[in-house]
Formats: sequence, structure tokens, C-alpha cells
Amino acid sequence: MKEIFERVSIRKYQDRPVEPEKIEAVLRAAMAAPSTGNQQPWEFYVITDRDMIEKLSRVHLYSGAAAGAPVVIVPCYRTKDLWVPEWAQIDLAIATENLWLETTAQGLGGVWMGIAPQEDRIEAVDAILGLPEGLHAFALFPLGYPAESRPQEDRWDPSRVHYI
Ligand SMILES: Cc1cc2nc3c(=O)[nH]c(=O)nc-3n(C[C@H](O)[C@H](O)[C@H](O)COP(=O)(O)O)c2cc1C
Repeated sequence: MKEIFERVSIRKYQDRPVEPEKIEAVLRAAMAAPSTGNQQPWEFYVITDRDMIEKLSRVHLYSGAAAGAPVVIVPCYRTKDLWVPEWAQIDLAIATENLWLETTAQGLGGVWMGIAPQEDRIEAVDAILGLPEGLHAFALFPLGYPAESRPQEDRWDPSRVHYI
């Protein structure tokens, strides 16, 4: 799958809106992810409101680049009515990687900005979005048409593979 080897963090975006069909395509990819016991603990908030994006970009030291994005997707996880709630963040990580790979496939660029598992960050994003009880922010994913490009670093290191 070529997108695995093309995906890079994109933090600069063209001043150009993203078509709703492309947003749906990346969300479909996220929801195609496997999850523990198929519990699908996710909800996705799609933010285009400039004031809210500005607030999200100030959540921590490394979220500033979100301010330049036309869209920020916030993958969220439920903690209620789940078979194994303690696995929900792992489920969201898989869904977020799917979302990132499909972003690349759509000719867009984005970057995963870490929120969970850091409690102070989760609380800050939950408050900005006004999330209901039992639903929490997992990550910020600003995306848009890229205004930067570079090849992915080659991380293949055969010495990290251990055959027994
Ligand atoms: C869990 C996670 C959290 C991350 N958090 C941030 C972040 O807060 N801000 C940011 O600019 N990049 C963030 N990144 C992007 C990483 O810095 C990036 O993936 C890494 O440097 C490798 O570069 P690449 O994505 O271009 O291959 C995060 C990536 C992951 C997987």
C-alpha cells in the first residue's frame, strides 16, 4: 500500500477548502478500522469554525500548526457502555492512523497532534468542544491541501527484527 510509505506530517496548508466528499472518505477509512471486540468507541468532530480552530491550536505547545488548517478533525472516544473501555484509546489510535493514510490517498496532508492519554490536554479539548459526559478527545488532526512536501524518511532497519 503506497500511502503507508508516502504519509508524512503536513503542518502547512493551502488556503483552499476541502471538499465534503474528501472529508467523508477519510472518515469512512477511520470507521473501517478494527477495534477491540468490534466495540467501535469512536465519534468524530469535524471543525471548520475559525474561532474554535484557533482555540484548539492553543491547547498545547505542539498544536500551533492547527491554526493554519481549513479543517480539524477531532477523533473522540466513548468511555460508557463499552465492552472493554480501557482499550478505547488503542482503538482510536488505529482509527486515526487509517484516517491519516486516507488523507494522503486523497491528495491532502495532515498531522496527528497528541491529546490522549494526557489528562490536562483531554480536559482542555473536551471543554473547548463542549463534549458530553462519557466522551473524550483523543487527538487533533488538522488537514488540508498541503503547502509543503517531502519524501518519507526511510526507517527500515533490519537490525530491529528478531527471528527466533
Ligand atoms: C501519537 C502522536 C502524537 C503526535 N503529536 C504531535 C503534535 O502534538 N504536534 C505535531 O506537530 N506533531 C505531532 N505528531 C507528529 C510526529 O511528530 C511525526 O509523526 C514524527 O515526527 C514523524 O514524522 P512523519 O509523520 O513526517 O513521518 C504526533 C504523532 C503521533 C503518532
